[in-house]
Amino acid sequence: MAIVPDTTAPGGRATIPQRTLRTDKWWVQPLITVIVLVAFIIYSTWRAFSNANYFVEPLISPFYSPCLAQNCVPGSSTWMPIGSWWVLSPALLILIIPLGFRLTCYYYRKAYYRSFWQSPPACAVAEPHNRYTGETREPLILQNIHRYFFYLGLLLNIVLTYDAIIAFRNQDGEWGAMSVGTLVLIANATLLWLYSLSCHSCRHAMGGRLKHFSAHPVRYKFWTLVSRLNTRHPMFAWLSLFGVALTDLYVMLVAQGTITNFYFFGQ
Ligand code: FES
Repeated sequence: MAIVPDTTAPGGRATIPQRTLRTDKWWVQPLITVIVLVAFIIYSTWRAFSNANYFVEPLISPFYSPCLAQNCVPGSSTWMPIGSWWVLSPALLILIIPLGFRLTCYYYRKAYYRSFWQSPPACAVAEPHNRYTGETREPLILQNIHRYFFYLGLLLNIVLTYDAIIAFRNQDGEWGAMSVGTLVLIANATLLWLYSLSCHSCRHAMGGRLKHFSAHPVRYKFWTLVSRLNTRHPMFAWLSLFGVALTDLYVMLVAQGTITNFYFFGQ
C-alpha cells in the first residue's frame, strides 16, 4: 500500500494513489441501492403507463389514487375534476407528488448521490469528481422544494388512508367486511404515515425556529415524538417504498384474476 509523502501538498498531506484504503466491501451498500431503486423505477414506470388492473372493488392501487380523470375505470373514483381531454394514464396526474417527495427526501438524496453519482460512494472513498458544488445552486438547489412536497404527501396519505377504510367493504359495497386486501391497504397507509411523520421537514415543522421549548410545551411534545421516528427514517423510507410496490402488485393480481382477494368475514 503505497502512501507517498508530498511535502508540496497543502498542509503537508500525503498523496494517496489508491482511491481508498478501505479493505471491507464498502461497495455493497451503494450497489444494492442502485439495484433496488432501478427495479422500483422500472416497475413503477411500467405500472403507471399500463393504465390497467388498478381497481377492483373495493381495492385501488396507490399508484392510481386519487383517480382524478374521467378516463378512470368506473367505480375507482367519485371525484374526477380532470375532464375527458386527459387521455393518458391517470396515474401520471398524481405520481408527481410521491415522486417529488421521495426524489427530494434528505435520506434518498444521500442514498442516490452515493450510489448513482458516487459523490462520494462511501466514507473514506474518493469520489471521481474534481469539484464539489453541493446544493447551493441550480439545479440541485431545487431540492429545497422538499418541504412543500411534504405537505402534498400528507394530503396523499389522507387519501390512501381513506382507501384503506373503504376496503372494509365487500365487492357489493356493503360495510363490515375485511379481506387480505384490507390489511394490505392498511399496512401501506401506515408505512406511508411513518415515512412522512419521520421526515426531517416534519421535525422542523414541529420544533423548528423556536428559541425556547419551555414556552411551547405542545410543540416540544410533538417534536420529541417526531424526533424518535426521525432516527428510523431510512428504514421507513425503504419499507414504505416496498409497501407501495407490493400493494400495487397485490391489487393488480386481484384485478386481473390471477389471485383471489380472500375475505376473513363479510363477503
Ligand atoms: S427527509 Fe425523507 S421524506 Fe423528508
